Amino acid sequence: MTTNKTRIALFCSGSGSNFKALFEAIRNKQLPAEIVLCLSNRARSGAMEFAEQNGIATEHITEKQFGSFDEFAEKMVDRLKEHKIDIILLAGYMRKVPDAVVAAFPERMLNIHPALLPKFGGEGMYGIHVHTAVLEAGETETGATVHFVNEEYDKGEILLQRTVPVLPDDTPETLAARVLACEHALYPDALEKLLTLQRS
Ligand code: GRF
Repeated sequence: MTTNKTRIALFCSGSGSNFKALFEAIRNKQLPAEIVLCLSNRARSGAMEFAEQNGIATEHITEKQFGSFDEFAEKMVDRLKEHKIDIILLAGYMRKVPDAVVAAFPERMLNIHPALLPKFGGEGMYGIHVHTAVLEAGETETGATVHFVNEEYDKGEILLQRTVPVLPDDTPETLAARVLACEHALYPDALEKLLTLQRS
C-alpha cells in the first residue's frame, strides 16, 4: 500500500509517557503520520519497551559506541536517513542532540519542556528541578512548551504553549504530575499544528 504519512522518530531516554500519548493520539485523531523509530541513549527504558511491543523500530545509539563525537553525530544522521525520517520529536531525551542532526532537520525537530519557556529553561532545568524552581519563584501558573529545536538549548521558536495552575499546597511532585498530564494533550496538538504547517 502506498502512503504519504509523515515518518516520525521519537528520541527518548525515560519512561516515554509522551511517546505513548503521541502514539495513541496519532491513531485517535487519524493524523497523517506514523511513529517509525524510537531512538535512545539507553538500551532499556519504558520508551524502548513500548516501541518493541508496538512493532516500532528501535536504535540504541550513544557517543561511547564511536571513536569521536563527530562520528557519533554522523552515524546518527545516517540512521535517521536509513529510516527515512521526516520529523524528530524529542520526548525526555536526556542528551544534547548533535548540531549535525539539528542541521539535517531544519524546522523539522520539536522538543517538549515542562515549563513556560523562556522561563525555567536552559542548563540544569530538567525534571523535578524545573518544578522546584517554579515553586521557589512563587509562580501562580506554569505549563508546558513545545518548541522547534535549534543549536541553543531550549531557545528555538515556540510552536505551542499551555498553562496549568500552581496550587497553594503543591509540592514539586504534584506540580510535575499536573504538568505532565498537560504535556500529553499538548504534544499531539503541536504535532498536528506542525503537520498542518508542513502540508499547507
Ligand atoms: C517530560 O516532562 C518532558 O517535558 C521532558 O521530559 C519528560 C519526559 O517524560 N522533556 P516522559 O518520558 O515522556 O514520561
